[in-house]
Amino acid sequence: MTDLGSIATAAFQRAFERDPEFVVRAPGRVNLLGEHVDYNEGFVLPIAIDRAAYLAVGAADTGEAHIHAHDIQEDVVFRTSALDIKADVQGRSLKSWARYAAGVAWSLSDSGLPVHGMRAVLTSDVPRGAGLSSSAAVEVAYATAWRQLGGWSLPAMEIARVCQRAENQYVGVNSGIMDQFASACGRAGHALLLDCRSLTWEELPLPAGLAVVVADTMVRRELGGSEYNVRRAQCEEAVFSLRTTLPAIQSLRDVSVAEFNAHAGRLSDVVHKRARHVVEEIDRTQRAVGLLRGGDAIGFGQLMNDCHTSLRDLYEVSCPELDVMVAEAQTLPGCYGARLTGAGFGGCTVNLVAGSQAEDFTRELAARYAKATGKTPDIYVCQASAGAAVIA
Ligand code: GLA
Repeated sequence: MTDLGSIATAAFQRAFERDPEFVVRAPGRVNLLGEHVDYNEGFVLPIAIDRAAYLAVGAADTGEAHIHAHDIQEDVVFRTSALDIKADVQGRSLKSWARYAAGVAWSLSDSGLPVHGMRAVLTSDVPRGAGLSSSAAVEVAYATAWRQLGGWSLPAMEIARVCQRAENQYVGVNSGIMDQFASACGRAGHALLLDCRSLTWEELPLPAGLAVVVADTMVRRELGGSEYNVRRAQCEEAVFSLRTTLPAIQSLRDVSVAEFNAHAGRLSDVVHKRARHVVEEIDRTQRAVGLLRGGDAIGFGQLMNDCHTSLRDLYEVSCPELDVMVAEAQTLPGCYGARLTGAGFGGCTVNLVAGSQAEDFTRELAARYAKATGKTPDIYVCQASAGAAVIA
């Protein structure tokens, strides 16, 4: 078993004085292209990565979930029924980390699926608040665990949807489906092209000779959740306004770049910028897929660079450290493209780099970023990994 799986198992034995019945792994994700478009029914291109949440799990016949969060050394016990109150067995309000577990239990129950009592220990090497979907990984791990405990089946995409509902309605971040999808449906060596309207996807092999490098600025922004919800509301406002002249549109997905240019005049400045990013990013992602299939790393990388400019100037979700990390990366040999990944406001960049130069790139980027910001970044080549599964 992987190291973290063993750590979760040992922590389970200490916490509950018995062996776990199984261990679940659910990965984080990095998104190559298609940023802030999933909740506009666009196309996204994430990969599940080789950093993941691990859950060592056993049944409990008490109708309660007993969870130990190994990384922060905290515990929670809540009843798997009566989850609306968001409180533990003693009536204390659930802390935010515990709401991911309770939210998934709530969402599964609400879908009519039985949620059994559970003992679990959680550990993860997906950095929190870094734009690599640490929370989606945790949610998908819990849903996979409850599926295994219950002996019922649920397709991976349905697992993702249940978890998205937990995030939206229980945790309170109005996120799209991309993160939970990537964690549930990842495939080793592949990027996933998801149509966020039809929820159908295709697995695209990553061309040989290319490395995906993740660079963590180490900046964490608490503002993320509320700013995220503001962006989402601005997109809805754009659709509402554009409908006066484009009555058939359901979402920004339905607006081509040409139509946007012709009809966007009535939008306020801010809403205009937000919507332009989305419309152009959906177009970029569709063009990028052809380039990826044809092995055109230069063309694909250019679209990643364009995406960063758009996220910085139009969607305004970057920050100075992300801009430094991207600007430095773009000047380094072997780098085809660099941009912020995930919701933004801090966290990580994703870089497409020639495999043969990835090591030098990683070292040089770390040195330059440290010199420019005084912060020590975490930069590594990541592998596209499989989606959530019971691994032991
Ligand atoms: C967060 C959300 C996703 C997606 C990205 C931005 O990661 O959870 O649904 O909207 O931001 O692309």
